[in-house]
Formats: sequence, C-alpha cells, structure tokens
Amino acid sequence: MIHTTQPKLHRLFHSCTTLSVAILLLLTPAMAQTAASPPPPILLGTAWYPEQWPESRWEADLALMQKADIHMVRVGEFAWSRMEPSEGQYDFDWLERAIAAAARHGIYTVLGTPTAAPPAWLTQKYPETLRVDEQGHRAEHGNRQQFNFANPKYHEFARDIAERMAKRFGHNPYVLGWQIDNEYAEVSFDPATRAQFQQWLKARYDTLDNLNARWTTAYWSQTYSDWSQIPIESTYGNPGLLLNWMRFVSDTWRSYQKNQLEVIRANADARQFITTNMMGWFDGFDHYTVAQDLDLAAWDDYVGQGHLDPAKNGAAHDLTRGFKGKNFWVMETQPGSVNWADINNSLDKGEVRAMAWHDVGHGADTVSYWQWRSALNGQEEYHGTLVGPDGTPVPLYSEVEQIGREFAKAGPALVGTTPNSEVAILHSYDSRWAINWQRHNKDYDPVKEIISYYGPLRAISQSIDIVAPTASLSQYKLVVAPGLNVLSEAAARNLIAYVRQGGHLVLGQRSGMKNNDNGLQTQRQPGPLVDLLGGRVEQYYALVHPVPVEGGWGSGQDQLWAELLSTKAADVQVLERYGKSNGWLDGQPAAITRQVGKGRITYIGIWPDDQLMSAAAKWMVEVSGVKPALGPVPQGVEVDPRYGNHHTVFILVNFSKSQQTVSLPSAMQDVLNGGSTNSVNLPAYGVGVLSQQH
Ligand code: GLA
Repeated sequence: MIHTTQPKLHRLFHSCTTLSVAILLLLTPAMAQTAASPPPPILLGTAWYPEQWPESRWEADLALMQKADIHMVRVGEFAWSRMEPSEGQYDFDWLERAIAAAARHGIYTVLGTPTAAPPAWLTQKYPETLRVDEQGHRAEHGNRQQFNFANPKYHEFARDIAERMAKRFGHNPYVLGWQIDNEYAEVSFDPATRAQFQQWLKARYDTLDNLNARWTTAYWSQTYSDWSQIPIESTYGNPGLLLNWMRFVSDTWRSYQKNQLEVIRANADARQFITTNMMGWFDGFDHYTVAQDLDLAAWDDYVGQGHLDPAKNGAAHDLTRGFKGKNFWVMETQPGSVNWADINNSLDKGEVRAMAWHDVGHGADTVSYWQWRSALNGQEEYHGTLVGPDGTPVPLYSEVEQIGREFAKAGPALVGTTPNSEVAILHSYDSRWAINWQRHNKDYDPVKEIISYYGPLRAISQSIDIVAPTASLSQYKLVVAPGLNVLSEAAARNLIAYVRQGGHLVLGQRSGMKNNDNGLQTQRQPGPLVDLLGGRVEQYYALVHPVPVEGGWGSGQDQLWAELLSTKAADVQVLERYGKSNGWLDGQPAAITRQVGKGRITYIGIWPDDQLMSAAAKWMVEVSGVKPALGPVPQGVEVDPRYGNHHTVFILVNFSKSQQTVSLPSAMQDVLNGGSTNSVNLPAYGVGVLSQQH
C-alpha cells in the first residue's frame, strides 16, 4: 500500500476541500513545495493532456474534475515534443504550472515519462533509435511506440529526459509518483538487437556445446558453431530459442525501465512511487521480471467490445496484484467505450460504476479514466471521454461523479485493507508461451484454461491470488496449477515442499511436460512430480469432439484435450474416468488424487465442461478446508473482501440482470448508506459496501 496516512486525516481532507482550495489559491509555487494534504486513500483519476489545450482552458477542466471528486491526473506520458521541442532545449514550465493548477483543485499528479512517443527531431537525426519489425521494416514517426527498446542511443535520451523531469519534480509535494513509459509492447529485430541477444545467450549458456545440447540442435542441422549464427525467432522456431528470445525481451524491458527508474529514484522523494502501466493478460514479456524493480503494479483495464466479464477481469486484477503481492492501481480504464475494438459499444448505465467497485474489490486503490477529453485531432477522436469536444460533461460524467462521492465516503473504511486468500492459482509466462507456440489444438488457449478454473473457484471461495510458481505458497490451503507446462527445477522443488508441508496442489492438463529450456522432460507428465503423485500421463489426445467422463464429480464432458492417466501407487484414488470414445481412453482414469501426509496432490487430465468444473471446484475447496469469505450469495453477485487489522470490508457487486438480495451472516455497517444492516438489496449492477469489525 502506498497510502499510509491516518483515516482521520483523510476525513479532514474531505471536509476541508473547499477551504484548502481557497488557501492553495493564495500559495506561491515556492510555498506550495512544502504544503500538501495527504491524498484520499481510494483515488479517482483521469488521464489529462494539458499540452493539447490552451492554458486558458485548464481551469474549466480542473473545476469539472474537482466537482466529480477526481483527485488524480496522470500527465505527460506522450508530451516529449512539448518538453524538449528541439535537441537540448527543454521546457518544463508549462508542466509545473499544470501541476500547480491541478493542486489548487485538490488534484494530485502522476507524471508519465514521455518515452513511448519520441519527438520527430530525435528519430530523424538518430534513425537507429527506431525499431525494426520482424520483416526488416524500420518504423517511422507519426504513430507511437516507434522506438527501439534495446538501442543505447535511445536509452541515453530516455534517461536524460527522465532525469530532468525527476530533478524538476522529484520533490514536488503534489506529484504522487511516476509512470515509466506507457504499455511496453513493441520490440525490435534489428541486427544490433540480435547481437545483444547472442551476447545474452552466451552469458546464460556459457558454451555453444551447452546451448546446442540443451536445445537439441542436432535436430534439422541447427547446430551452431559461432554465437553470431543464432537467429531471432518469435513464432515458429526451436522451442529453446523461442523461450530464450522472450526471456531476453523481458530482461531488455527490465533494463529499459531500470535506465529511467535509477535516475528518478536518485532525484525523487522516497514517497513518490514508481510504476508502469501494464496490460492484464498481455504476454509480450514476463511481468514478474519487469515488476520486481517497481514500487507498485498498475494496469490498463479495458473491456473493448461487449460487457464486463467479472471472471476474466477479476482474474486480471488478481494477476496484477500478484506482481507485487499488494494493492495496485488501475491506471487507465474506459469511460463507457473504446475506439479500437471491432464494435466499440458503450458499457451499460451503471456498469462503469460496477466496474469501478469491482476494481477496488480486487485490490485497486486507484481507478483512473482514459481519458478526460479527446484531443481535437489525432488517432483516438472516437474514444470514450468524460467531457465532449465542446468541453462540457457527457452523460457518463454524472455516473463518475457518483463513483467519486462513493470513493470519498468509503475511503476511511478501505484505507489499509487488502484482499487475502486461502486459494492460489499459479501462472507462468513460460508455460503460456510454450503452449501458444505449439497449441496442438488451435482452440487451446492457456488464459481461457486459467479462467475456466478461476471462475467457479472464485465463486465459491470468494477470493483468489494469482502468483508465480516460485512464489511462497505457505499461506494457501489450495494451490491450482492449470497448464503449468514448463516446470523449472526451482518451481518443482517449491511445489513438492508445499505438498509435504500440508498443502493441496492441483495440477491441470499439460503440466510438468517441459523443462526450463522448453525441452521435453524425460519423465512423462508431470515430470519431476510423478513420484509424489504416484501416477502419470500415459498419453495426451487433442480432441475434435468432447468425450464423456464420469465419477465422483458427476458425469460430463471433457473438451479440447484428454490425458490418459495411470496410477502407480496403491493409495492413489481415481476421481473421474473416461466413458467410451476413441478406444484408448475408454474406462481409463481422467483425474486422480493422492494424500501425502497432511498434504494432497491431484492431477486433472480433462478440461471439464462448466457444470463438471463447478463440481470439481466444490470438491477442491471442500477437501482443502477452504472457507468462503462471506458465505453463500445469489448467483451473479460477486463478493470481494478486503481485510484490515481490525475489520473486513465486503464489496458486493450484482452482475446478474435482476435485483438480488444478499443476507449477511451478521449485522454489518453499510458504508455507502450509513447504519447497520443484516441484508442488502442490489439492483442489476448494484453495489454494496459493508464493514465488519473483528
Ligand atoms: C492504451 C493507451 C492509451 C490509450 C488507450 C485507449 O491503454 O495507454 O494511451 O491509447 O489505450 O484505449
């Protein structure tokens, strides 16, 4: 948590907003350097681009933000050409004035470094700073993310602008923190980057003999006799090469980020956090690698076409929370609609509010809308905003005002609280990449596989963490690993220790098939966990049609993929068996479990249909002794607990289409409406915030 302030101070902040605005209006910039009230614990924010507007307009925008209880603006992340209009000529005065103007409205600033949008003079003079795509085309100016993430000259410029910003604003009391760049994504395939990759491989593998052996390059005469022969492959290549390219990409993004992070840290107050805005399930780099240097995780949460899917979105929140193991920020989210989906429909009336509370329920301490107002020209003219091109509020503004009022009201109850779970789902980029490169069944999507477990498990347990396979697991009663395809020795040791210490490990399909070089394990699945399981996968089958299964979880269908399991140890229990299908699978074990001391290990060789997965989830939760956070609620109502030292806040969101009544296990404080209550009525998209003392 970055907000360590006392609830009392927050209340003071809110009740004194008008007074403090009046006082702030009188402050000179020098005085303002020393005085800032603490920010509200749950922040409502928006992306604001003062460089796109005449300064005479700023006051009107900031007043409208203040009216909606918006207390944070993210500024600057694409404004390089305004900050450094020509090489070595800097102008930060406008930014200082923008930060001060926002502060006068009780609004704090998060500064974005502008490196996702280099100015034209830079890439024109130093074309090597432009990235090259896989087909060899060099990017051009006119869009964004055209820079080369591995280029030393670009690193030099990026460090310089970040350092100058940090020197200027690192002690500004209204600057809460920093966002480095914006949505790292585009990589470069130019010869110099390839040479860096080869050096990186040398450092990792030491000798070519070692690399050749571990990648089995005898296959198709791939053997390398010089490091410079090694190509870049990103889609169809040697699996060892593919995996290492993605690890190199991840390390390069980390050093790209570190380059800026170091100069910010050296020049900024420790209270100013450093983050970057990630993209949920995006797998262009290993987010655990990149997040380790940040103070805080943040992501950009967009629905795109359609409506909020609470499981998919909730799991993405939990994934992001897992990057730092603490509360996170939603740095961008859609005000109604986006401009980049096939059909950019708007979220329904009330859905934006439900989504905002869903964010907070999963551990977001900030929800920030992208964007305040569209630039009058530029690529995103159609994107959702909070004010129109005429500068007056769009219909959604009033819903955002309501969110602002409610965040202010609930802030004191939510300060210092965080989700906390007895259930973890393991997530690994190595495994997702490995499966995606060789899906074997085109519909086998590893994220969908994770969510197929997450949905029913979350509905019953009412809280889930998503963590890396090497994370500490001792707090969990149940750890589920869907599709843990690449299993490093360190992860295997972690999982074995977890079971031996009394935990319940559930492995899903394709787990334990590959080693850390993305090569096949020489034991059948689940590789190093076969002995612990007392069973193994004899054969896998990609399925054109679902096959029947039956057993203790009931009868149902296995979709997309089937694994024929065998039991070796006498104490292994068969949970489900295949019905009649291809002959090979008929009557064979489909899911098995084994008690190991106080712990347990289970292997699920099927992708169960929804009903069967719900039964499997119920079994997992019960056999592991996991208790639901609140207790049973009507279907479609999501329960999001946030725990404090002396109280728990339950956020309830009704995602069903009709009114629902939730009976509470005991009387609780109704945070939004006041008073104490034993039950809550929620219309469709309705939200309840309840607080219970311990
Ligand atoms: C991303 C970017 C923003 C904006 C939005 C539009 O999240 O970070 O600058 O382009 O998409 O949805």
